[in-house]
Amino acid sequence: MAAIHGPRWLRWPSEPARRRLAYGADYNPEQWPREVWEEDVLAMRQAGVNIVSLAIFSWARLQPSADRWDFGWLDQVMDLLHAHGIAVDLATATASPPPWLTAAHPEILPVGHDGRTLWPGARQHWRPTSPVFREHALRLVRAMAERYGSHPALAAWHVNNELGCHNVYDYSDDAATAFRVWLRERYGTVEELNRAWATSFWSQAYGDWAEILPPRLAASYPNPTQQLDFKRFSSDALKHYLRAEREVLTELTPDIPVTTNFMVMGDTKGMNFADWAREVDFVSNDHYLLDGERDELSFSANLTGRLANGDPWFLMEHSTSAVNWQPVNLAKQPGGMVRDSLTHVAYGADAVCFFQWRQSAGGAEKYHSAMVPHAGTDSEVFRSVVDLGATLEALAPIAGTRRRRAQAAIVFDWDSWWASELDSHPTSRLRYRQEALDWYTAFAAAGVRVDVIGSAGEFAHYDLLVAPILHVVPQALADRLTAYVGGGGHLVTTYFSGIVNEHDHVWLGGYPGALRELLGLRIEEFGPLRDGDRVHLDLGVSGTLWSDRIDVTDPDVKIVASYTSGDHTGRPAITTRLAGAGSASYVSTRLGPDGLGPVLAELLAVSGVRPELPEAVAGAVELAVRTGDDADYWFLINRTDESVAVDGVTGEVLRAPCLAEGLTLGPREVCVLRRPH
Ligand code: GAL
Repeated sequence: MAAIHGPRWLRWPSEPARRRLAYGADYNPEQWPREVWEEDVLAMRQAGVNIVSLAIFSWARLQPSADRWDFGWLDQVMDLLHAHGIAVDLATATASPPPWLTAAHPEILPVGHDGRTLWPGARQHWRPTSPVFREHALRLVRAMAERYGSHPALAAWHVNNELGCHNVYDYSDDAATAFRVWLRERYGTVEELNRAWATSFWSQAYGDWAEILPPRLAASYPNPTQQLDFKRFSSDALKHYLRAEREVLTELTPDIPVTTNFMVMGDTKGMNFADWAREVDFVSNDHYLLDGERDELSFSANLTGRLANGDPWFLMEHSTSAVNWQPVNLAKQPGGMVRDSLTHVAYGADAVCFFQWRQSAGGAEKYHSAMVPHAGTDSEVFRSVVDLGATLEALAPIAGTRRRRAQAAIVFDWDSWWASELDSHPTSRLRYRQEALDWYTAFAAAGVRVDVIGSAGEFAHYDLLVAPILHVVPQALADRLTAYVGGGGHLVTTYFSGIVNEHDHVWLGGYPGALRELLGLRIEEFGPLRDGDRVHLDLGVSGTLWSDRIDVTDPDVKIVASYTSGDHTGRPAITTRLAGAGSASYVSTRLGPDGLGPVLAELLAVSGVRPELPEAVAGAVELAVRTGDDADYWFLINRTDESVAVDGVTGEVLRAPCLAEGLTLGPREVCVLRRPH
C-alpha cells in the first residue's frame, strides 16, 4: 500500500495493493426500508462505487436514549456493503445531537452573538466548547470504535461532519470560558492582552481575565483585535474538538486513518483549514459549485491539494446535479458533473464522492441531487454516474500520484481574509477571496498553471508569487517575503496589503507598512472608490473599489502603469521595484480578471513563467499536472461550452472521449494524457 499512497490513506479491505480511485457517496440507509438497501448495493456495484460514508447523521438511531444503543441495523449495513466489496468511511456520528440529549442538556446549544439560542430541529446544534457535549459525543465515538474498529469494511474514520458548518461562532458562556483559556495561553498576562487589543481605546482596559467576553452584540464596533482573536479561537476550538475525537480513535484503532471533511469552498471562512491540515491522516474536502463561479471550483481544489502538501486527498462531497441551498438551484449541464469531478482529480483528489447516494424523499434536502435521483436508476443522472465510475476506473493509474508544482503561486492567508473584511475599514466592499480568485482567473485566461498555497507554504519553490490583499503581515512574514525577493523571486501584492501586524495594529510611517521598503513606495491615505466609480490606467484597463496615492521612495522602482482619471491622475497605479534578480510589484486598484490580463503578461515575462499549452488554447483549456514514478499526467480541462481543438500536445490518452477526433475536447470535457518521463 505504501508504495501507491503515502503512509496514511484508506485502508482498503479488499485487494489493498490494487491501484484505484475511490468512488462513492454519503450513504444514509436509515432513511430507507431494508429492501432498498439490497437495491442500493446492486446499483452501487453497477456504478463502480467502492466506498461510502456511513452513519454521518445516525446518532439518534444508534443511541435512542442515554442508556440504549441500537447497532443492529448498522451491523447489517456494514456487513452488506462488505459482502459487495464496498468499503466504508465510517462517521463517528456526532454531527447532530439527538433530541433526548438537547432536552436533557440544553446547555450544549450554541448561542448567537445577540444572545439567541440556536435550537435543535436542524443539525449541528452543539457548542464546540461544551464539556457536556464532548462527554456524550466522545462516549459515542468510543462505542463506534469499539464496535467497528475491526470490521473488515472499515477503511477510514470520518470525524463528525463538516466541523463548523453551522456552529463555528458560538458566544455562549462555555465559549467565554474557553476563550479566556485560549487568550491566557496566547498572551500570558492581562497586561499583554491589553496591549495587543489596544484597550486604551474606548476605555476597554481589562483588570482580570474574568472580565473578558467573546465579541457579543455591542453598542458599536467590537474591538477589532478581540474579533480577530475570536475568529482564531473559534477555528482552534473546533480543531481541538477534532483532536479529541481523533485521540479516542487512534487509541482504540491505531491502524485506521482518521479524516474529516473540510469545506475549502466559496465564502466558508470560519475554519482555518491551512492550520487544520496537519490534524488528519489525509485531507478531505467538500465542494459545491456556486452558480457562475466555475473557476472557484478549480481554485478550491487547487488550494485543497496544496494544503494536502501535494499528496492525494479525498473529495468527500460534491453534487451530481442541483443543490437545494442556493437562491436558484440549477441542474448541471451535460458533462458538467464529470468535468467538476475530474477537475478535483486533476488537482490531486484520489476519491470522488457525492452527497448523497440516494436522493431523500423527505427532510430538508429532498430537492438536493444524488447519485440515484427521485426518478430512479433509469435516469440521465444515474447513467452519467455509471459513466463516471467507468472513467475513474480508466484513470486508476493516476492513484497515488502527486501534484506537479507550478512555477507560480497565489498565496491564500486566513488571517488576512479575516482581518481585511472586519468592520470600520476604509470600505466595506472589499472581498479578499474575490481578489484572489480574480488573479486565478487571470492565470487561467493566460493559459498559465498556478498553485494556490497557504501563507506558511514554501515561497522559494516559485518564480512568481502573487499575494493579493496580504493585509496581516507579522514581521516574520515580511522577512520571509523580503528573503524571497532577495533570493530572486518575483512578488506581487495589491492594495490594502502589509497594513497591520498580527494584533491588527497598523504598521506606522506610511502604508503599505510592513512591505513599504520591499515595494519602495509610500502611501499616506487610502483612496477607496464609491460603488460604480472607475479609475482608468494608461495600460488601457480600469479599476474599481480602491486606489492609492502612491509616492515612489526608491530609485529602483519602475512605474508599470499610471492613473489617467480620478483623484490620482498622473500618479503611479502599478509599480515594480527591481531588487537584484528578483522584484516586488504593487497593484493599487481592483482590476478584475480581465484588467489583470496585461499586468499578468508583464509579470510573467519578468519572472520567466511560461504557459505549457499552445498559445492557441490559452484561456479555453486549463492544464493541471500530476506526476508519478514514470510519467506525468496532464489533465486538459475545457473551460468553455464549445469544442476546442488542442494541437501539438502528445501523450497516451487515458480517458476515452477526447479520442473521438484526435485531441478535440468537447464542451466541458476533460482529457487525461499520460506522458512518460
Ligand atoms: C454539506 C453536508 C451534507 C449536505 C450537503 C448538501 O454541507 O455535509 O450533509 O447537507 O452539504 O449540499
